[in-house]
Amino acid sequence: MKVTIVGAGNMGRGIGSRVVAGGNEVELVDRNPEDSRNLAEELGPLATVSQSVGGEVVVLALPYDEVRKAIAEHRDGLAGRIVVDIVNPVDWSTMETVTTPAGTSAAEETAQLVPEGTKVVKAFNTTFAKTLVAGEAAGQKLEVLIAGDDDAAKATVAALAEAGGMRAVDVGPLRRARMLEQVGLFHIAIQEKLGSGFASAISLRW
Ligand SMILES: NC(=O)c1ccc[n+]([C@@H]2O[C@H](COP(=O)([O-])OP(=O)(O)OC[C@H]3O[C@@H](n4cnc5c(N)ncnc54)[C@H](OP(=O)(O)O)[C@@H]3O)[C@@H](O)[C@H]2O)c1
Repeated sequence: MKVTIVGAGNMGRGIGSRVVAGGNEVELVDRNPEDSRNLAEELGPLATVSQSVGGEVVVLALPYDEVRKAIAEHRDGLAGRIVVDIVNPVDWSTMETVTTPAGTSAAEETAQLVPEGTKVVKAFNTTFAKTLVAGEAAGQKLEVLIAGDDDAAKATVAALAEAGGMRAVDVGPLRRARMLEQVGLFHIAIQEKLGSGFASAISLRW
């Protein structure tokens, strides 16, 4: 399967590392083609560079404010695809709240913006880039919490995560992204207290 990652930054590197580890192809799209080229070289032969989105799954590895612009720019290419929203819309001035209005989430906003028929899945917002590159945290598998309204789309993202050596957990419908984004905020906010340098991971056991 080919996965397009828009944004060749920290999470582009992290998710790209897991995708190629699972034997899947990565297509990198960044506003700075040199960043895509450098990351593709780092990720190896399964990674390519592009200016447009061609993958069955498209990960928007972008800051919250850039997601809207990227969807507008790649609108035609996104139609009918699985779009993965990984955003943590953190209010960095306080690190106490998210910046999305009550009663919605970044992922639900993304779902409103993409063309009809495009399936939006929330995933990877609770895993830090550093741990994705390493493929583990404290010697244990990473867990990818996945929310979405389309079961087949969630299963595709789960299969990608599992192929990359992670454990996928379906946590319910897309509106649950509101909670996942709070979990993402919580995980960021406790880093200083833990002294873990963004190398910790959220884990569910039952
Ligand atoms: N870092 C983490 O551990 C982590 C964990 C979970 C979730 N997240 C979420 O993941 C998202 C990405 O975070 P990150 O840490 O990977 O950010 P980042 O390192 O800043 O990477 C973002 C990349 O996207 C590029 N970019 C920005 N706008 C673009 C556009 N319109 N079209 C194409 N490329 C564009 C940036 O280019 P420039 O360098 O030119 O700006 C940069 O290369 C954020 O929403 C964050 O909340 C991050």
